[in-house]
Amino acid sequence: MEPTTPTTTRPGTRPAAATPRGAAPSAAGGRWLPWAKAAVFVAAWYPLARIVLFGATGQLGANPIEFITRSTGLWTLVFLCITLAVTPLRRLTGWNALIRFRRMLGLYAFFYAALHFTTYVWFDKWFDVAGMLKDIGKRPFITVGFAAFVLLIPLAVTSTRAMARRLGRRWQMLHRAIYAIGVLAILHFWWMKAGKHDLVLPKLYGAIMVVLLGWRLVAWLVARSRANASPRRA
Ligand code: HEM
Repeated sequence: MEPTTPTTTRPGTRPAAATPRGAAPSAAGGRWLPWAKAAVFVAAWYPLARIVLFGATGQLGANPIEFITRSTGLWTLVFLCITLAVTPLRRLTGWNALIRFRRMLGLYAFFYAALHFTTYVWFDKWFDVAGMLKDIGKRPFITVGFAAFVLLIPLAVTSTRAMARRLGRRWQMLHRAIYAIGVLAILHFWWMKAGKHDLVLPKLYGAIMVVLLGWRLVAWLVARSRANASPRRA
């Protein structure tokens, strides 16, 4: 999920009409594209299949709920990073077909976030709403994780082409929330692991996020300075 193209309108994509740099559908893929999309679609089930397999064979460890919560949380972050990597990779390689995967990847991020949240609500809190609200209010890592999840919902809901067309420019603005979600996800991970004095992975994912968001900031600054430098038409 991140601002996409109409052809790929996933959470966080740009509506077709606003698609920059000629990412015309004809240019963005060939006969292999449906097969590649099918392969990515199937591969993205691996994290869930692994949990199911481990569960069926008694390999979820001493604390299965913790295993599932952590596994789904980490895979949410992985899919967020992959989704955010689509635009920089596309621009750097000129391989426009990449955009055709963004919506699916963003929706998988939402899917694993929903599983992660459901595990927490169901097996950790047993639907104790008061306990959850207390957690959200008192534990900063839960607060930011919850905020990230809530922000993901409108992106998933408006990820269809029809919604992109309907919302127009507002769709693009809305899907910029993916950047805030990326930051909140890192904060969530960082705070959680800081309590355990184990910041290796949060630092790694934090660095990846800095590169993915920093690239956009630099691209935006460059585009802005070019626009300012170009002579205005009378
Ligand atoms: C976009 C949303 C979210 C992302 C990307 C995310 C990501 C993560 C990550 C990466 C971990 C650590 C996994 C590990 O230890 O390797 C984690 C753990 C956890 N998350 Fe999230 N999370 C999100 C939303 C939420 C929400 C909404 C809640 C609950 C309200 C939540 C509750 C937890 C809990 C309870 C843990 C495990 C803490 C522990 O084992 O001590 N997360 N999450």
